[in-house]
Order: sequence, then C-alpha cells, then structure tokens
Amino acid sequence: TKKVIIDVDTGIDDAVAILYALKSPSLRIEGITTVFGNVGVEQATENTLRVIQLAKPTYEVPVALGADKPLKRELNAFSNVHGHNGIGNVELPVSTQEPLKEKAADFILRKSHELSGELSIITLGRLTNLAHALLKDPSLANRIKHVYVMGGAVQSAGNVTPVAEANIWGDPEAADLVFSSGMAITMVGLDVTMKTNITKEHLEDLKQHCQKENQEMVAFIENALTFYFDFYRASNYLRDAAPMHDPLTVLMAIDPYIMKTQQMKIKVECEGELCLGMTVADRRPNPAIGTPIQVCVDVDADLAVQKMLAVF
Ligand code: BDR
Ligand code: CA
Repeated sequence: TKKVIIDVDTGIDDAVAILYALKSPSLRIEGITTVFGNVGVEQATENTLRVIQLAKPTYEVPVALGADKPLKRELNAFSNVHGHNGIGNVELPVSTQEPLKEKAADFILRKSHELSGELSIITLGRLTNLAHALLKDPSLANRIKHVYVMGGAVQSAGNVTPVAEANIWGDPEAADLVFSSGMAITMVGLDVTMKTNITKEHLEDLKQHCQKENQEMVAFIENALTFYFDFYRASNYLRDAAPMHDPLTVLMAIDPYIMKTQQMKIKVECEGELCLGMTVADRRPNPAIGTPIQVCVDVDADLAVQKMLAVF
C-alpha cells in the first residue's frame, strides 16, 4: 500500500476523491489536511470530517486544518461552483470526529519524519499548506516520495482565467514554491481532467451495481454531482456530466501508469496580469525555464472512470 496525505478544499470533486481514496485498498490515508479554495478552510474541514464519517473507514484518518488564505495575497471571493456549503448543498450528518490541534503544515512535517522516504502527498486544492511546510523546513523535500498535484494546464484552456487553472491561480506563489522545490511532482492538470467526465449514465449504472454497504455513499455522490452537472451545463461546458479533476489525481497516485505523461520544464507565472497562475511549459528543444515536472498529457477516460467507480 502507498502511504499518502491528501490535501483538500472539499469541494464536490474533492468529496468524491476522498471517498474513492478511502475505499481504495492500495492506499493508506495517513491524514487529510484542509485548505481554503472552493470554500473557506473551516467549511472545507467540516465537509471533510463529514465525508470521512460517511465512508466509515476501517482505520482512523486524522484531519488537520490548514491555511485560510494564500501565502502572499488577499483571499479572493469564493465561487459558487460547489454550492453554498461546498458539497452541492447536500446536508451530511455532523461528524463525531474533531480536527487535530496540530496545524496542517506541522502535521505534514511530523509525518514526513515518521515516514521518511515513504510518504506521498496528493494535493487537490491550493498548494498553500505544502508551501508553508516547505518554508518552515526546506529539507521536507528530501523526505517526500512523490507529490501528485491536481492543477495547471499545458495545452488545455484554463478554467478560472483563459490560461489558469483554479488551484494554481488561487495561490500562484505557493504553487511556484512547490514546483521549484526539487520534489518529484506529477501534474494532473486540465489537459486530462477535463476529458475525464462522469455522466448521468455512469451514476445510473453505479446505483445498480454498487455494493450494498456503499449505497449511502453512492446516494451522496449522486446528489452532489447532480449539482455539479447543473453548473457545468449552465456554464456551457457539458450536459449531464462533470469532470473528475480530483478523483483522477487520486487514481494517478494509485496507478501511475494509467496516464501518458511527459516530462516538461514548468514555471508558474506569478506576476502577469493576463497570465497569472498559468503553468508555463518550456517546450522548446532546449528548455531553459522552469523545473522538470511529470505532466499528464493523455488519459483513457473511460477506463479511468471505470476504475474510480469500481471501488463502490
Ligand atoms: C480544481 O478546482 C476545484 O474547483 C476542484 O475541486 C479542483 O480541485 C479544478 O480546477
Ligand atoms: Ca479541489
């Protein structure tokens, strides 16, 4: 099993990703850290605790509260993509679990010592927590096995500006710090996540074929995704379907050969007005700008969705 910390801004697709990860026998979730993003960090933490409770994991999954704003910038207004509560306005029962007293960055640092060389990190939100941890102790980079980042776009359009993806744009300085830290990074960006859609048909099929003990989870997924479908339809992207950004990143951590990757030198734009938060790839024959990142460039979307849903 692969030992991971998942960093989330729960979020509809974060919620699906958490359920998927908790149900995957090949992952051991050492903890979940929360960050502002889709919603504020308090709400993201609340959602995370409730989603964990819904999954009834067989082992304890600690939750550590993280950053409430970007490293160097003011907090932007939250979008309405994920509903007022972040999980498609679905009300889950309040959790009996409390978050840790320890903050996310300290939790990441402590675990990196306990599991030195064995711990991977999956980030599904802004990279602020990981950046804070690196600022406190740059040697963290030597102890982390791999980082799987949901964020960025190389060839695809952006989703929050013409060129920027939300998780990078929401804290470009944090993303820049993490990308240039020397850690082994796989970027799961919009190039692949926008192709990996879950559809109404998938959900119908899932309801028919899921295991009995997972029915409650599947009902939640259906309700939350119905909200997500409406957003994607209203914004002229998709009809009765939604991209699985965050679950696809979890899948990449489980099965690193599922997608076609290409190493590219990448630099996060932290200054421009039009291109703020863009993940700029230097694709010239002799790339000079940026740090080598393993970029996911293609995916067998049907296979990916099938694998994600198979755990339920
Ligand atoms: C990312 O932004 C959030 O809305 C999603 O949860 C995902 O992590 C996609 O750009
Ligand atoms: Ca997210």
